[in-house]
Amino acid sequence: MQKKSLAFALTVILSGGASQVHAEMTHADSVNTGKQKSITCVSCHGEHGNSTMAMFPKLAQQNAGYLVNQLKAFKDGTRKDPMMSTLAMTLTENDMVDIANYYAEQKIVAEPAKSDESAEERAEHETLVAQGGDLYRNGDLKREVSACIACHGPLGEGNKPAAFPALKSQHADYLIKTLNDFKSGKRSNNPENMMHMISAKMSDAEIKAVANRIATMK
Ligand code: HEC
Ligand code: HEC
Repeated sequence: MQKKSLAFALTVILSGGASQVHAEMTHADSVNTGKQKSITCVSCHGEHGNSTMAMFPKLAQQNAGYLVNQLKAFKDGTRKDPMMSTLAMTLTENDMVDIANYYAEQKIVAEPAKSDESAEERAEHETLVAQGGDLYRNGDLKREVSACIACHGPLGEGNKPAAFPALKSQHADYLIKTLNDFKSGKRSNNPENMMHMISAKMSDAEIKAVANRIATMK
């Protein structure tokens, strides 16, 4: 399995990247055009892709290749969401590339620490984050949960050439939802089923812990 995913990662590294370039536009022009085209996204995904509501994923600083893949998946129906599926139908491939280039250039903002937390709540959160950090770095050898760090990077920055998504500073509740969607197969687009195999082995407690850890990564 290890060997197979490595070979897969290499294939995407060698074939990736090209989809983020327009034949007739410079990168800077594409980013500017993308900003205009992203006006319809702001109501849910927030200013500069930093949404304030946890049900809407942040798009800021996400790898462009990953964003384009998701928009294509919403359009062709391999990833389904009542809001996104309809919207993606209206986007051309050039629109997707421009919008993705724009969001990739924005800075993601982490949630501020909660100020109304009691000492107990804070301690509980810290334990959760520590457990999640351990799983993120080391995985769980016995139960064959792969370490997230291998594909999503030490700082949750993702892997641009392979189009593995950045995860850092993402809303914990969105991460929990989407990991459960992988687990149940509701989110079915997924190269080589990598996330299906991993999430299937994760318990609810592990999903909650790792999501809380990732949300604090900056
Ligand atoms: C009415 C609200 C709404 C609007 C407007 C909207 N989105 Fe979304 N978007 C969502 C929701 C909800 C999800 C999460 C779907 C899920 O849980 O699988 C999402 C997910 C996404 C994702 C996947 C992110 C990830 O981390 O996997 C991308 C990419 C995306 N939207 C791009 C866009 C773009 C580009 C626009 C504007 C053209 C847009 N969205 C407009 C609600 C919206
Ligand atoms: C072998 C590589 C690999 C490993 C290891 C891995 N992932 Fe992933 N992950 C991926 C890929 C590839 C995607 C993107 C799937 C797609 O393009 O639809 C992804 C997507 C995700 C997403 C969705 C991001 C979004 O914005 O919607 C989350 C959350 C995630 N992974 C969490 C984890 C966690 C937590 C772990 C560790 C327990 C982990 N991953 C380990 C390859 C990996």
